Amino acid sequence: MDSLEIIGGNRLVGTVPISGAKNAALPIMTAALLADGEHVFRNVPDLRDVHTMTRLLGRLGVQAVYRDGEVQMTSFGDIQPTAPYDLVKQMRASVLVLGPLVARCGRAMVSLPGGCAIGARPIDQHLKGLSAMGGRVELRHGYVEVTVPRGRLRGADITFDFPTHTGTENLMCAAVLAQGRTTLVNCAREPEVEELARVLNKMGARIEGAGTSVISIEGVESLHPVDHAIMPDRIEAGTFMVASAATEGDMLVDGIGFEPLEAVIAKLREAGAGIEREGGGIRVVGSRPIRPTDVITQPHPGFPTDMQAQLMMLMCLAKGTSRITETVFENRFMHVSELNRMGADIEINGRTAVVRGVDKLEGAEVMATDLRASASLVLAGLVAEGTTHVRRVYHLDRGYEQIEKKLAPLGARIKRVAGNA
Ligand code: EPZ
Repeated sequence: MDSLEIIGGNRLVGTVPISGAKNAALPIMTAALLADGEHVFRNVPDLRDVHTMTRLLGRLGVQAVYRDGEVQMTSFGDIQPTAPYDLVKQMRASVLVLGPLVARCGRAMVSLPGGCAIGARPIDQHLKGLSAMGGRVELRHGYVEVTVPRGRLRGADITFDFPTHTGTENLMCAAVLAQGRTTLVNCAREPEVEELARVLNKMGARIEGAGTSVISIEGVESLHPVDHAIMPDRIEAGTFMVASAATEGDMLVDGIGFEPLEAVIAKLREAGAGIEREGGGIRVVGSRPIRPTDVITQPHPGFPTDMQAQLMMLMCLAKGTSRITETVFENRFMHVSELNRMGADIEINGRTAVVRGVDKLEGAEVMATDLRASASLVLAGLVAEGTTHVRRVYHLDRGYEQIEKKLAPLGARIKRVAGNA
């Protein structure tokens, strides 16, 4: 397994291009199950999860070819609605095929995704919605099997117990071919949900309200293929913004606007970073001292849980104490012990991490445990005194397109070391 070797201390200066959003590309690729013909998706990031999704869709009967940032997906109509364990276990987002399969085929068998490092991550809300639309849900031998006795889902009024990002996406996909109107209430409002609705509407769906907490979908008889360029990745952008703030850098994070990052920008400004719109991007200038700030993660438009670990790293160097509360996932502090091994002073009290700022971090051997925890360890290595080795960077490769190739031109001393355990 590869590792990253980072020698800390350099300011990051220059322009970094932001890739397409992983969490938009994944649900959008599953939408190809809803319509026969050739779909073309552009600006698709070269990520492990994207390649896992193309393999999964291939097993379902959709030919998917990834080439130079583009995915060509051809569906011939002979969909096999079974998503096997060996692929689903590699990526929880595989559960996103459930809604499209039931909508298209009237049945689906999808391996239960199981938990992951950051939490149990059940899919009860997804299944509650499918049941309300006439799906019969059975859990057997580690699979969820949904069948539709009447052959076609029917529109329903569904209220989520709480906003669920992929739950909203799954049920939106299930409803577009259902008979009648579906109203989803208490929906997730993430920008990626809006992007999926844009793609489905380009395919002929009739969705209104995506991006708000109430989404209505008027079912249609069929959909047609689509050509679409994926929106930029707000979490990748936020990660680089923190890198600039942490290294007293001067970085243009290019290809993304303020809108999807308001909560992150507010916190980085509170921490003392200078952040301005510039051209088609965001200029981030780091300063000292870094000011402490408190953060509570929440569903969009609140502060994103996917940026919690990265901001925590910045707070490790603040002049004062910060409190970071994680409300979305039950186990998303695994970066804390690794940051403390680098000299941070973080104490976990339940769902709140109390971060007492220190003067410096020290390079160390650290282990990545999940995607965003890995990112925070890379950021820590960029500012630490000495050399840091981040091991098991396959976690990082799931969500960041060759992060070392984007950081090095900015002045980071970082390289990939093949094969370390
Ligand atoms: C999506 O996960 C993202 N993944 C996650 O990004 C992101 O952290 C999360 O949304 C929150 O924004 C993709 O989009 C592929 P949720 P998702 O359903 O949909 C609980 C990354 O780093 N829940 O909004 O799984 C759940 O356990 C990844 O890119 C239920 O209890 O998140 C969690 O505690 C990590 N039952 C909370 O709700 C359900 O049926 C929010 O989860 C569904 C969710």
